[in-house]
Amino acid sequence: MAHYRSVSLIIPFLLAYLILPSLVYLSHADPPYQLCSEPGYYAVNSTFQNNYDNLVANLSSNASLSNFYSTSYGNNTYRVYGQYMCLNYVSNQDCRKCIDLASQDILRLCPNDTEAIVWEEFCQLRYSGQDFIGHLNITGNIWKDNVMNVSQPDQFKLVVNTSLQNLSKVAAFDPLSDMYATGAVEFKDASASMLYALVQCGRDISGSDCNICLQQAIKDVLANCSFSVGARILSRSCYLRYEQYAFYEGKTAPEPNQTTQGGKFI
Ligand SMILES: *[C@@H]1O[C@H](CO)[C@@H](O)[C@H](O)[C@H]1NC(C)=O
Ligand SMILES: *[C@@H]1O[C@H](CO)[C@@H](O)[C@H](O)[C@H]1NC(C)=O
Ligand SMILES: *[C@@H]1O[C@H](CO)[C@@H](O)[C@H](O)[C@H]1NC(C)=O
Ligand SMILES: *[C@@H]1O[C@H](CO)[C@@H](O)[C@H](O)[C@H]1NC(C)=O
Ligand SMILES: *[C@@H]1O[C@H](CO)[C@@H](O)[C@H](O)[C@H]1NC(C)=O
Ligand SMILES: *[C@@H]1O[C@H](CO)[C@@H](O)[C@H](O)[C@H]1NC(C)=O
Ligand SMILES: *[C@@H]1O[C@H](CO)[C@@H](O)[C@H](O)[C@H]1NC(C)=O
Ligand SMILES: *[C@@H]1O[C@H](CO)[C@@H](O)[C@H](O)[C@H]1NC(C)=O
Ligand SMILES: *[C@@H]1O[C@H](CO)[C@@H](O)[C@H](O)[C@H]1NC(C)=O
Ligand SMILES: *[C@@H]1O[C@H](CO)[C@@H](O)[C@H](O)[C@H]1NC(C)=O
Ligand SMILES: *[C@@H]1O[C@H](CO)[C@@H](O)[C@H](O)[C@H]1NC(C)=O
Repeated sequence: MAHYRSVSLIIPFLLAYLILPSLVYLSHADPPYQLCSEPGYYAVNSTFQNNYDNLVANLSSNASLSNFYSTSYGNNTYRVYGQYMCLNYVSNQDCRKCIDLASQDILRLCPNDTEAIVWEEFCQLRYSGQDFIGHLNITGNIWKDNVMNVSQPDQFKLVVNTSLQNLSKVAAFDPLSDMYATGAVEFKDASASMLYALVQCGRDISGSDCNICLQQAIKDVLANCSFSVGARILSRSCYLRYEQYAFYEGKTAPEPNQTTQGGKFI
């Protein structure tokens, strides 16, 4: 059911650019995004590169079996550690596609780097020469938001916070949650009537670390994107997103209501 949003939106976006140039305004998070090591390059044909290649091939083949996996490859000093996480609502087949895309993007965006992480629409892929598996890391979170704002920001912020707090408790402390939670609550606005939110942690960290990661992500989203109709926090150890449409059920962003929101570009 889930489609790559970047692909499925290409045609509407091209039309929008042609017809209404100011619709650029509406553009949202368009992955990939990355954090690369700086400096720190591995040499061509080195042991590190060989281990890296095997690691990524191993991760990629696991992606058709499971939505989360960590592993390492190689010996001693040149051992490479890797991990991927697909959002839990994504099928194994789409997870595999996403990791294959991420493994191409990570090479293109962080060529020869000894550590890197890339976030795609449905997944994140990370590797390093240091063993990061099982270690919470909340540094360098990236936030992405939609430039369109809600009409009642104060009420919205409250609902976003409560909703994310509720979901975080489930993801972090409910052993049946798989460290993943989604939920919808009513929120009436000029352009929508519901709020849909998702949180997920890497399954290598503990429940209490998951909670720490999501609390930081909530802080980031409330501090930086609380007026926005949709936002996501990209973190090494967890992930958070909210929208006014059911993205985790495979829905895509609705066409903007030109009567209510279109004043700026008509
Ligand atoms: C790397 O290895 C390949 C195949 O063994 C070889 O063709 C290529 O010239 C090597 N490149 C460098 C920079 O050593
Ligand atoms: C994955 O790793 C194993 C060793 O752990 C190795 O034998 C195998 O060839 C690797 N798979 C791929 C596709 O590289
Ligand atoms: C991942 O793949 C390896 C082989 O590369 C296999 O031994 C392992 O069971 C797989 N793990 C999961 C969780 O799918
Ligand atoms: C790891 O070390 C063993 C024994 O020294 C060697 O046989 C093997 O090829 C090495 N593996 C890698 C991936 O370097
Ligand atoms: C990175 O690797 C590519 C081939 O994999 C090579 O052509 C390039 O020179 C390398 N760059 C650096 C900075 O090592
Ligand atoms: C988090 O990850 C970055 C990049 O890998 C690393 O430089 C930093 O030391 C890590 N921080 C912690 C607390 O592990
Ligand atoms: C949304 O609100 C933020 C913060 O008040 C403001 O900087 C931004 O320009 C607004 N965006 C639009 C499209 O009005
Ligand atoms: C979000 O809710 C938590 C728990 O109720 C509260 O401690 C925090 O201050 C709230 N954050 C904001 C920005 O309102
Ligand atoms: C949060 O959880 C409380 C207690 O279960 C519930 O009453 C409330 O409606 C929830 N709020 C949101 C916004 O999810
Ligand atoms: C779009 O705007 C019109 C006119 O203001 C309103 O009647 C309609 O309910 C809006 N549609 C949505 C989905 O909000
Ligand atoms: C994002 O939010 C955090 C608080 O969680 C704050 O420290 C940071 O400065 C904010 N970033 C920007 C660009 O406003």
